[in-house]
Amino acid sequence: MDDAQAVIGPVNLAARVDEALAVQAVAFGLDAEEVAVRRHIVLRHLTSPGARAFGATTPDGRLVGFVYGMPNDRAHWWSTVVEPYLRVTGTADWLEGSFVITELHVHPAFQGLGLGRGLITAITDTADEKRSILSAIDTESPARGLYRSLGYTDLARQVHFPSAARPYAVMGAPLPLPRRN
Ligand SMILES: CC(C)(COP(=O)(O)OP(=O)(O)OC[C@H]1O[C@@H](n2cnc3c(N)ncnc32)[C@H](O)[C@@H]1OP(=O)(O)O)[C@@H](O)C(=O)NCCC(=O)NCCS
Repeated sequence: MDDAQAVIGPVNLAARVDEALAVQAVAFGLDAEEVAVRRHIVLRHLTSPGARAFGATTPDGRLVGFVYGMPNDRAHWWSTVVEPYLRVTGTADWLEGSFVITELHVHPAFQGLGLGRGLITAITDTADEKRSILSAIDTESPARGLYRSLGYTDLARQVHFPSAARPYAVMGAPLPLPRRN
């Protein structure tokens, strides 16, 4: 199998939620209990207005990466958690007219091949919104490096989600995301 041949395109993530969570479990580190919780959350998210997903699929049909997101809704849990932090930094306006990247994960065996960059660029290219926001663990990680290289800057740091052990950074970027030269 040629890793580089994974193809990026829209995917019915609700139908492939177990495959997607298996990727997330190994990429991000989720135990079985967390996978079960995430499964409900993902399926609920995918019913939100404007929710969409893209996947990276190998020639033999294996899902090795995915991204999903939706237009931000200030009533959604994620938005209500980050809003006070964005108010402090004067960036709460980013919660209006923004496309939220909810999850982005690439299987470790397929990382470093451009799939993460391709997935987030593909999904944001479909957004009508003029900007995009997301949260990432507040540490120097490949994810943070990727987001910065795409124009995302920190809107707030040390953001605490009630269920998460580690603080997050909230980042925002204008759309469309830049292409590599
Ligand atoms: C973040 C993630 C999706 C990136 O996917 P990927 O397919 O490996 O990314 P790409 O190959 O498109 O790389 C894009 C950029 O990511 C960054 N990056 C990728 N691997 C990196 C590494 N090992 N160290 C530092 N930066 C790295 C670089 O900025 C890279 O740009 P470059 O091509 O100019 O070097 C992937 O690392 C992943 O799934 N990580 C674990 C889960 C996770 O953290 N998800 C995000 C939650 S917010």
